[in-house]
Amino acid sequence: MRCTKCEALSTSHRHKQPNLAPQLLQGLDYYDVSKPFGGLAIIFILFASYILYLICLVVYNLCFHPLRKFPGPKSFAATPIPYAFYQITGQLPYLYSTLHKKYGSVVRVLPNEISFNNPAAWREIYGTRPGHELLTKDPKSFAPSNEGAYNIVTVSNVADHARYRNALNPAFSEKALREQEPLIITSVDLLMERLHKNCATGEPQDMVHWFNLAMFDIMAELTFGESLEGLQTSKYHPWLEGLLGSALKYVSFTRVTARFPHIARLLNLWVPKSLLEQRVKHQKFSWDMVERRLNNHPPFRDFMSYILPYDEKTATMTLAEMRATYGVMILAGSENLVATLTITLYHLLRHPDIMEKVSREVREAFPQKENITFDATNALRYLPAALTESMRIQPAAPSSQPRVVPQGGENLCGHFVPGGVGIQKSGTTMILPKILIKFDLLAKLLKDVLLGEVSALISLE
Ligand code: HEM
Repeated sequence: MRCTKCEALSTSHRHKQPNLAPQLLQGLDYYDVSKPFGGLAIIFILFASYILYLICLVVYNLCFHPLRKFPGPKSFAATPIPYAFYQITGQLPYLYSTLHKKYGSVVRVLPNEISFNNPAAWREIYGTRPGHELLTKDPKSFAPSNEGAYNIVTVSNVADHARYRNALNPAFSEKALREQEPLIITSVDLLMERLHKNCATGEPQDMVHWFNLAMFDIMAELTFGESLEGLQTSKYHPWLEGLLGSALKYVSFTRVTARFPHIARLLNLWVPKSLLEQRVKHQKFSWDMVERRLNNHPPFRDFMSYILPYDEKTATMTLAEMRATYGVMILAGSENLVATLTITLYHLLRHPDIMEKVSREVREAFPQKENITFDATNALRYLPAALTESMRIQPAAPSSQPRVVPQGGENLCGHFVPGGVGIQKSGTTMILPKILIKFDLLAKLLKDVLLGEVSALISLE
């Protein structure tokens, strides 16, 4: 047989290999051999590695993660991207409602977080249980102030939270609330005076505006010992005007960026400048107010009366913690109340029969406005029922109050949840599907059943 390369008669010989090195080296000259990876190549490799890492993460989240057996949409289990979208667009509580309807009482809503919606979950997630560790606030969901301090709502360390509560508790005692009564009544009287005057013109009134003026005036007096004079001027204080809406929007952005730790700094660039500016303004406002209050002596007792005069050596809270905490108190006490009053008024106006009963009850109980006191309002039945039902069907704080499962894991509503997993529990998830039925049901029941029984019926459902 002939060799096909050299035509020799035998095929058992070897051919000399051609020396290709010169051509190869010539080819390499084309690249800068002294720098085997140029800048672009490094970026490409980093980017490709990151993509590979993300792909591995998605596979891990879907196939190997300890939460893989919990029901829920695959896209939510794989990445935090769907969560981010719904959080930023303000639809998260409503989406969770829909997910619970489809998947049941426990749903995996993020790679490392699950949401519960059954009533027992309230107690197990937020309450203390003998033999169980407390679920702490999820630090991923809250950013500290620009001074690095956490406030009473955001502080996740249990010992720190207890320390804050020790400082605040005296301001919420029965005795303290009684001392605050005249101050609250004065603002409510002024609100009514303004409403009477403005309604006499026949012009429709924006009740959100009025509730905002009244609640923020009251809370400013209780928190910092001085009113914002909103009811006096019928106008928003410049701080309040900028603040409304923006504080809660900023929380949404914080919650999203915390779910993308690798690119959090990059995402922070995406937070709207207006929100960041507003945050700085709000902090400056509350810092100034706390500073002023330290040197002022209002003629009534406010929340800070119980911890002043401030002495750094003996104080339970640092000044930075106080600034952060009192800054959030003015929001916690007013925004939620404005929402609750607005929602209740809305439902009462939509249900004239209930409105009629509530009005009649109030007018019969209080022939004069002077008769209205904290104690006397305790005897009312219809008005508290309407307020409670409104809060239930449209909670003023519809988003979740996130918690983390302690190391070692915890049994929650019959499910073992591993340590470190985030827990979501939004009030909205339990009630939205019934929203319209419930108020109509209340209207129907009010016609012939005593209110005590109505409340019992509602709480049994
Ligand atoms: C309808 C009215 C209100 C609603 C719906 C509401 C809602 C809430 C919610 C959901 C939390 C829990 C946050 C969490 O644990 O993550 C909370 C905590 C808190 N709220 Fe309210 N709130 C209302 C009125 C008020 C008022 C009037 C004040 C003050 C005068 C206030 C002060 C606080 C404080 C200080 C905390 C933190 C408690 C702690 O962590 O120990 N709230 N509120």
